[in-house]
Amino acid sequence: MEVVGKKDLLPEAPKHIAIIMDGNGRWAGKRAMSRLKGHEQGAKAVREVIKGCRELGIPYLTLFAFSSENWRRPKEEVNHLMGLFKFFFNKEINELVDAGVKVDFIGNISKLPDDVQKLSKELVERTSHNSALTLTIALSYGGRAEIVESAVRLAEDIASGKVSAADLSEGSFEGYLETKDIPDPDMIIRTSGEKRLSNFLLWQSAYSELIFQDVLWPDYTRNDLQDAINEFYSRNRRYGAVSG
Ligand code: IPE
Ligand code: IPE
Ligand code: MG
Repeated sequence: MEVVGKKDLLPEAPKHIAIIMDGNGRWAGKRAMSRLKGHEQGAKAVREVIKGCRELGIPYLTLFAFSSENWRRPKEEVNHLMGLFKFFFNKEINELVDAGVKVDFIGNISKLPDDVQKLSKELVERTSHNSALTLTIALSYGGRAEIVESAVRLAEDIASGKVSAADLSEGSFEGYLETKDIPDPDMIIRTSGEKRLSNFLLWQSAYSELIFQDVLWPDYTRNDLQDAINEFYSRNRRYGAVSG
């Protein structure tokens, strides 16, 4: 008789956690501060979750830092956010290199100010040999734009005869997405109580467990991350089949 070990009964651990970091503005509003202060405070929570994922051995973390729609915000706020990205990347680069974090970006990086683009490239290059945690930062990112741009690249390959339309599959299409080198997120966390994806990882989220937490992003701690992971473990992932 086959003995079923305890290990076999445990649900699979999440390999990829993606986070919609929301609520910076409301955090500041509650304290009669400007929204900009909320974004500054949000950077602390980013450090916490990177550390948390490293310690828990989660191999992939993706953070939604700025959406393709966030360009619609007042110029002052957009400029401040760009300044913060620059400050954060500069400040954290050595620690990320030392901590074994491999940084990557998804989104329309060419829309960012030159200095932020330059630093982003430096971050990617200097951490490219790391492998403990792959941190993907979604900057100027929109899920629909990503899918359309992938379709354009595919159409070009079909036109040049490199691939044939008849051979197209979900798997081969995925090879055109910006996330081609990372697995789909097992769980997507959104803070601040909002319950929507706001154009984040639309293709990749097909079977992600969605976890909504009321905490505002600047208050997010290791405990909140642990709560989200516990919630993930309570879910039954069926992928359209029946539970075993
Ligand atoms: C998330 O916080 C940060 C970004 C979108 C850049 P918000 O700025 O959206 O905060 P709320 O939703 O207004 O509270
Ligand atoms: C989503 O938050 C984008 C990021 C967290 C970077 P938003 O605050 O921009 O989303 P909406 O506008 O509430 O949908
Ligand atoms: Mg928001």
